[in-house]
Amino acid sequence: MILVTGAEGFVGVQLLKRLSALGFPVRTLIRSATTGGRLRRMAGLLCRSAMTDTASLKSAMQGVEQVIHLAGIFRESWKETFETAHHEGTGRLMQAAREAKVRHVVYVSTLGAVPDRIYPFVRSKWLGEEEVRNSGLSFTILRPSLVFGEGDHFLTPLKRLLESSPYAFIPGYEPLRCQPLWAGDLVSCLVKTVEGGVAKGETIALAGPEQVTFEGVVDLVQRELRAGRPKVLLPLPLAATATLLLERVMGSPPLMTGVLDLWRLGAVTSLDAVQKAYGFAPMPLSEEVHYLLSSHGSSPKRRSRRERMLTSNRSI
Ligand SMILES: NC(=O)c1ccc[n+]([C@@H]2O[C@H](COP(=O)([O-])OP(=O)(O)OC[C@H]3O[C@@H](n4cnc5c(N)ncnc54)[C@H](OP(=O)(O)O)[C@@H]3O)[C@@H](O)[C@H]2O)c1
Repeated sequence: MILVTGAEGFVGVQLLKRLSALGFPVRTLIRSATTGGRLRRMAGLLCRSAMTDTASLKSAMQGVEQVIHLAGIFRESWKETFETAHHEGTGRLMQAAREAKVRHVVYVSTLGAVPDRIYPFVRSKWLGEEEVRNSGLSFTILRPSLVFGEGDHFLTPLKRLLESSPYAFIPGYEPLRCQPLWAGDLVSCLVKTVEGGVAKGETIALAGPEQVTFEGVVDLVQRELRAGRPKVLLPLPLAATATLLLERVMGSPPLMTGVLDLWRLGAVTSLDAVQKAYGFAPMPLSEEVHYLLSSHGSSPKRRSRRERMLTSNRSI
């Protein structure tokens, strides 16, 4: 039995689809009451628990052999901080996993995880990694760069912003770099890890085959939308403050602190990181952006292409 945390999130839903297509017995850990029905169709067993709830984490672990730990947040709120979600939450999960004698834990951290206080999201993910490393359990830590795909946290909001704003805002006077990884490829790495194909005890950087700048992505999206918004460069401190304000007041803000942290940090690694660790070539952002942003977004042809890619194990 595999326990997946954060199963109702962007990556979690795609992972569940793949695991259930491959016939893995899966239990999901979710905390919201709304998406349960949708998830139940993909994974028979569903547990409701916040990462902070020790008692229900303990019962969720019954009979679990492996844990894929995806639960995380990209913005803080009055009831949850990066520290409580990533550091304390992961600590509690590891304690429950240890007590249940779980065989292996896969933790999805983030590329460039460092203890530096300047990057609050990235720092908390590093503290979460430390909980995993010091748990005494067998583990693999995956560190993806920004992840793109349907419903992601950077292309999708950027598209919305460019459709509604008269300007294209670009944080930083110096180009911010990233190396986006397709969600379907991250899912392939996760599946291969639980199948046992990757060395245990490793921390693995994962990123796509090309490095892009924030401005380059804006250009790509503008071309796809046939939008010609004038570009406005924002100094980084102003961009960070605007992000903090917008994420407090908007349900779906154009940028979140966690995503901006990855851009500021420069979440890049070698171009063949996935090939080296998992033996396949990941999908470039430029290849997928047309399908993600196309105005035929929900056409049956496009849907069937996406479904095929997500369930076919293309990359394994
Ligand atoms: N997407 C990226 O670009 C990216 C890049 C690098 C690393 N990562 C890491 O990859 C993982 C998955 O990312 P994602 O994009 O799928 O994130 P996501 O869409 O934000 O989903 C995260 C899920 O975790 C759940 N969660 C958060 N805090 C929780 C808690 N205290 N207890 C129980 N559940 C909790 C959320 O539940 P609610 O819906 O109730 O909030 C949500 O379902 C995250 O750990 C993230 O840090 C993602």
